[in-house]
Amino acid sequence: MGKISALRCISCEKEFNADEIEYTCPSCGQRRGTLEVIYDYRKLKKILTRRYFSNNGEHTMWRYLPLLPVEDRRFVQPLRVGFTPTYQFPHLASHYGLEALFIKDDGQNPTASYKDRASSVVVIKAQEKHKRVITCASTGNAASSLAGFSAATDLQTIIFVPRTTPAAKVTQLLVYGAKVFLVDGSYDAAYDLASEAAETFGWYNRSAALNPYLVEGKKTGALELAEQLSWNVPDVVLVAVGDGSVISGICKGFEEFHSLGLIERIPQVVGVQAEGAAAVATAFQRYNGGKVTIEDVEAQTVADSISVGKPRDIVKAVTYVARNGGYFVTVTDTEIITGISTMARQTGVFAEPAGAAPFAGLVKLVSKGELSGRRVAVMVTGNGLKDIVAARKAVEPAVEIEPTLIAVEEHL
Ligand SMILES: Cc1ncc(COP(=O)(O)O)c(C=O)c1O
Ligand SMILES: [Zn+2]
Repeated sequence: MGKISALRCISCEKEFNADEIEYTCPSCGQRRGTLEVIYDYRKLKKILTRRYFSNNGEHTMWRYLPLLPVEDRRFVQPLRVGFTPTYQFPHLASHYGLEALFIKDDGQNPTASYKDRASSVVVIKAQEKHKRVITCASTGNAASSLAGFSAATDLQTIIFVPRTTPAAKVTQLLVYGAKVFLVDGSYDAAYDLASEAAETFGWYNRSAALNPYLVEGKKTGALELAEQLSWNVPDVVLVAVGDGSVISGICKGFEEFHSLGLIERIPQVVGVQAEGAAAVATAFQRYNGGKVTIEDVEAQTVADSISVGKPRDIVKAVTYVARNGGYFVTVTDTEIITGISTMARQTGVFAEPAGAAPFAGLVKLVSKGELSGRRVAVMVTGNGLKDIVAARKAVEPAVEIEPTLIAVEEHL
């Protein structure tokens, strides 16, 4: 038997063996029946001590291998994924009235987004399962990370992204050698098409939420944050939410470290959504501990990565955030665009719109008098160079001049 004790349905809690099911619980269906990966925590507790980690010389997310669903480490790629920097900004913290402010920059992953954590795991699972073709629908980053991590394998990669995906992301796909379909429709349409194609042609599907192993990679950002802050986790962690998988991963990571006795408490995880694509935030407001109410929307936001109207991991995201005392906040497109330049100017970290949304959320919460005196971490999930068209909206154009000193003086 491998490492995984069971795959458990988030809604009915039925448990399956990892080799008897690929994607979601058949009784609860695609969106309500997403699966959680369960390990033998009693056994892990004996191995995964603080001393184990202080002696661990692996400075990538593979330092958490015992807590990841990978069975065959020969498939681990040499690309350096995870263990991204967590910066501290004491002056800025005082400026915002916080006790501490941390920024974790996942724009520094191999394909420049948080999604590398998930794709790296699923590309390994595809090879362990002897798959030949891997596919996904994506707003862009999941796809570029999948293409990047499968590039040096024998897997053929087939991608479905909306036609409006930023050029940098589409270029990444093409450069890595993926077959790319630009779908004339929303991400939600691309998602359904990828699912249908995967089922019809027998491809392995990496699309968000459907594949249970993605959240496992996505939890490693939380594990790193705990270690990088010497096990003294922040009070609040802000993260952008589209489908709800990244936030679910972050919550699961903290929960697992807590149940292993490595951290004393679980931070409040705060989901940040764009006002025009806030289905998870709305479901959270209506949630009272029972069944999660799902109401899809027509997504409309400048933050392409979180432009999701039909969030696929909504049940997990709402359930996990609620049980750890977190909450959701929404920000406007203007706040997101301003967030890009404000964060870049105040910290030197340049994020794409979705990556800057949590910073915009921070500014908004501070302006409402919340977060005062707290230790806050902002997860930057995507690099600013992914979408320079959006970034340009945050700044004045550069000054064009003749090559003379007089021209320089005129504009000083
Ligand atoms: C940069 C960035 N931030 C946040 C997210 C949100 O992740 P999720 O869709 O899992 O909620 C994504 C997803 O594509 C992303 O690319
Ligand atoms: Zn179920």
